[in-house]
Amino acid sequence: MGKKGRLDGKVAVITGAANGIGRATAILFASEGAKLVLADIHEEGLKETMELVKKKGGAVTGQKTDVSVEQEVKALIDLALTTYSQIDILCNNAGTGGDLAKLENESEDTWKNVYGVNVMGAVFASKHAAASMMARKSGAIVNTASVAGIRAGAGGNAYSASKAALINFTQTSACDLGGFGVRVNAVCPGLIETGMTRRVFDYARAAGKMDKMGYRCELRRYGHPEEVAYTILFLASDEASYITGQALPVDGGNTASLNLPGMKA
Ligand SMILES: NC(=O)c1ccc[n+]([C@@H]2O[C@H](COP(=O)([O-])OP(=O)(O)OC[C@H]3O[C@@H](n4cnc5c(N)ncnc54)[C@H](O)[C@@H]3O)[C@@H](O)[C@H]2O)c1
Repeated sequence: MGKKGRLDGKVAVITGAANGIGRATAILFASEGAKLVLADIHEEGLKETMELVKKKGGAVTGQKTDVSVEQEVKALIDLALTTYSQIDILCNNAGTGGDLAKLENESEDTWKNVYGVNVMGAVFASKHAAASMMARKSGAIVNTASVAGIRAGAGGNAYSASKAALINFTQTSACDLGGFGVRVNAVCPGLIETGMTRRVFDYARAAGKMDKMGYRCELRRYGHPEEVAYTILFLASDEASYITGQALPVDGGNTASLNLPGMKA
């Protein structure tokens, strides 16, 4: 008899699946038996992830989706329902970093774009997937927020505020959906090597400063997409059946510490 997967029989929709944490989550979910519906605005990367999942024998469909556009998100949820007739798990993972401009220079377009993707993307997908989850009285939504939504210093103004909004939306939607057996949680990654942080890592590599990447975390290192994917897997699985409305840092202890200067060897 084959090994039982932690997501056997479940259907999972994952946004931002073309790269980084979303791709790692898709591959891990498939290896645990989930059927996948993947989305990203980046079509080539999305196809690559779908091929990687198929190579591992996973069932997968997906389509190019801009999560900031409600009609496109609704079409994605419709695709999931027409293909698999149910949605058990929704991972609102697509995100954009905005810029690091000072407040006085941050444009209205940056704020609108960052909020459109990081907040409204999760709102639209949750809204459209929730109807089917509520009808079946079961479901799990996992939002990818950030340590930037907990404390300042890990992103620009718009990005940090959008992730704080996403953490709050995790709580409010958990309250709305809890009575229907639908759980909503968030992961808050720290510094992870992905497409979003590639420029910083490329710079550190070129400057011979890779030992400095993540050294301010209590674990003294940066994280990997798979380490976030395993946390998303736990929150999405039945193993987390009594957890809802929570935002769990996956950050090497970054947010656990005040990290005062001079306190570390
Ligand atoms: N990498 C980190 O250090 C870090 C830290 C905290 C939080 N996060 C969050 O993790 C999530 C995944 O990002 P990542 O680090 O894997 O980076 P990534 O750039 O590798 O992946 C993000 C994906 O989101 C997609 N995306 C962007 N805008 C989109 C849109 N409008 N519609 C659909 N897809 C869109 C991108 O094309 C990309 O494939 C994001 O929400 C990000 O904010 C990352």
